[in-house]
Amino acid sequence: MQIKDRTFVISGGASGLGLATVRDLHAHGGYIAILDLNAENGNKVVSELGDRTAFFEADVSSPPSVSSAVSALVEWVKHTKKSIGGVIPAAGVGFPGKLIDRHNEPIPLENLELVLNINLRGVLDLIRLCLPHMTTTTPTEPDGERGVIVMVSSSAAYDGQPGQVAYAASKGAVRSMTLVLARDLAQYGIRAVSIAPSYFESGMTAAMSQKVRKSLEGVFEFPRRPGKGDDFARMVRHCVENPMLNGECIRLDGATRMPSRL
Ligand SMILES: NC(=O)c1ccc[n+]([C@@H]2O[C@H](COP(=O)([O-])OP(=O)(O)OC[C@H]3O[C@@H](n4cnc5c(N)ncnc54)[C@H](O)[C@@H]3O)[C@@H](O)[C@H]2O)c1
Repeated sequence: MQIKDRTFVISGGASGLGLATVRDLHAHGGYIAILDLNAENGNKVVSELGDRTAFFEADVSSPPSVSSAVSALVEWVKHTKKSIGGVIPAAGVGFPGKLIDRHNEPIPLENLELVLNINLRGVLDLIRLCLPHMTTTTPTEPDGERGVIVMVSSSAAYDGQPGQVAYAASKGAVRSMTLVLARDLAQYGIRAVSIAPSYFESGMTAAMSQKVRKSLEGVFEFPRRPGKGDDFARMVRHCVENPMLNGECIRLDGATRMPSRL
């Protein structure tokens, strides 16, 4: 699908992998609707990139917030007349914790809900609300394609590490949803793909200790470095452009398999 003159809705677009995707799709002629909790960063990105971008403050774990952000971005799309061609729900959080701690206390349910509501329900909610505005567009591509959903899974969907129970559950769900969405949306000419990065440089991983980051770098086969935003964004671009990519979760990990212990 062509990127130029189509709108891409990107949650988590104010930082890290989402931001790299915003920059890349914008550089290739796309219109970008950024949804993020962080209004300061989101507005900064819009003033930097200027034309063809808009920021909508939203908490993807809050259904009313997602709903009002989608209504606002749909108004923007009506104004620009550049129909929604893609949804990239990249907003996500880690928040590690084992189900039971060393004092034999179960993890607070709110900690599990926080991760699941952002990484799983928030992803489904954003896609769900954008879809009615994609299924009704006039197909512009030779195959009758209308759009693509590119979700962000993780290597935790395959080899989750200790303390990643909620995160792995959410990212495993994203991986499992991919084929179902591809099947459900095929009749509309909408594809669904997900990308499973390993350790990538971003706001999320910058918060890890130097020791953990060094150990993670040691488990890469090749290249022996963390992934960069640009590596991720190029994969998203390929997912948008290649119509045969559908229903698959693609590992983007330099052949890394996350170990149980670092
Ligand atoms: N960086 C990695 O190594 C890595 C690996 C695998 C998967 N991922 C996934 O990539 C995605 C992007 O993460 P990142 O590493 O770029 O992190 P990041 O922290 O740099 O960016 C995440 C963005 O999401 C936003 N966000 C967080 N909670 C939100 C909410 N409730 N509502 C709206 N926006 C919210 C943040 O404000 C931030 O701008 C996440 O889904 C993450 O799980 C990252």
